[in-house]
Amino acid sequence: MDKKRGSFTGSIGFILAAAGSAVGLGNLWRFPILAAKDGGGIFLFVYIILALTFGFALMATEITIGRKTGRSPVDAFRMIDRRFEWVGWLAGIVPLIIFPYYCVIGGWVVKFIQVYSSDILSDKHGTAVDASGGFFSSFITAQYQPIIFFLIFLGITAVFVYLGVDKGIEKLSKVLMPLLALLIVVIAVFSLTLKDEESGRTSIDGLKLYLIPDFSGMTVGKFISVIIDATGQIFFSMSIAMGIMITYGSYMKKDTNLLKSVSRIEIFDTVIAFFAGLIMIPAVYCFMGDSGLAKAGPSLMFVSLPQVFDKMGPVIGNVMGVMFFILVFFAALTSAISIMETVTSIIMDKFHFKRTAACTFVLMISLVIGLIVCLGYNKLYFEVTLPNGAENQQLLDVLDWFSNNLLMPIVAISTCIVIGWVVGTKYVTDEIKICTPAFRREKMYIIMIKFIAPLFLLVILLQSFGII
Ligand code: PHE
Repeated sequence: MDKKRGSFTGSIGFILAAAGSAVGLGNLWRFPILAAKDGGGIFLFVYIILALTFGFALMATEITIGRKTGRSPVDAFRMIDRRFEWVGWLAGIVPLIIFPYYCVIGGWVVKFIQVYSSDILSDKHGTAVDASGGFFSSFITAQYQPIIFFLIFLGITAVFVYLGVDKGIEKLSKVLMPLLALLIVVIAVFSLTLKDEESGRTSIDGLKLYLIPDFSGMTVGKFISVIIDATGQIFFSMSIAMGIMITYGSYMKKDTNLLKSVSRIEIFDTVIAFFAGLIMIPAVYCFMGDSGLAKAGPSLMFVSLPQVFDKMGPVIGNVMGVMFFILVFFAALTSAISIMETVTSIIMDKFHFKRTAACTFVLMISLVIGLIVCLGYNKLYFEVTLPNGAENQQLLDVLDWFSNNLLMPIVAISTCIVIGWVVGTKYVTDEIKICTPAFRREKMYIIMIKFIAPLFLLVILLQSFGII
């Protein structure tokens, strides 16, 4: 391995950094809502099965590609087969697009931490984030505020990428990930004790909705749509097809057990998503009923949840608000770092830039794109309907569609084809067997990469165009 590229010092550092990438906004604002919509326990069951098969195969492939080549995606694909360097470029474009808008959202999170904490300190509790939801929309459509908070989040992220793999990313992940796990458990336990005096609903009613499989109205068609939802969620949640796992894999030492690491990252990611559900569904259902669980994404996090905090009363609501948004901040920061690191690493490998120069370059590009994204809610406001049918979407949503719904499935399908059909699955299984000679899931792995994963991914791609 090229010494100058840096590496994680050991398996714990690698696992926590990769888990830091995997645990992100997707776990917090998408997983719980999909579970509530898709029959509770049924979704959880399907998700776990798919994580152990589909998710496992894709993640193991990417980490292996990284470790075997010791390179970031562009060089890695060129080393596998010259004709497929373009897959590496496509994989590299994804984080470049995602990074700026992810930092814009990160800025919103910082703003909410600031608002809730200043509310606690100022003792005019409960006024800063009004329960009508107007606070969020007036904040993101303001001219300067979102830009300031975007710059803060971008700056914090950049510091750790400047510091490098072991001194920045690994050290931070070792502190933040355990803290994140602790915070999520504490908030989840609290969330299970709520009762709404007006409606008489308790959080245990929400818990039942989350955990008990609901077979009512379940048809074959509905079950297939549960599978598609879970597949799409795993794919995004595990940071696959963004070049990230290839890059992090390239910093992994040869004596680190690849298979064990993949399993642990998956377990970490899934357990955190499960706990996010334990927070969201009971709390939101208790205070808002079904209507609160209708929407995933920013409106759940920045509109519905603040309404829930408001109902908890001024003091507790503000404390929960701060704790919750700090949790989101940790999750978003470690994900943002992994995307910035990927782009930085491609530039270092490809153009032989030093880390500082590469980082500065990425920072400048992201600054410009991020500013445009912020203005997408203000001076550059527009509304479009996306090919998947989503209406009234802004610039951020367009970039999100382009990277997540279009490029990522294409990158993942191409990766499956290159490994499954061009160079052969032995390319991956041999590397896995260095530490695990008895690779028990080998047959399943081969079938996944050659046949099932590309098929599932194709379905996701078609869904992005509203064809399914
Ligand atoms: N895996 C992250 C999540 O679940 C998604 C992500 C990671 C997005 C890294 C961008 C960069 O939210």
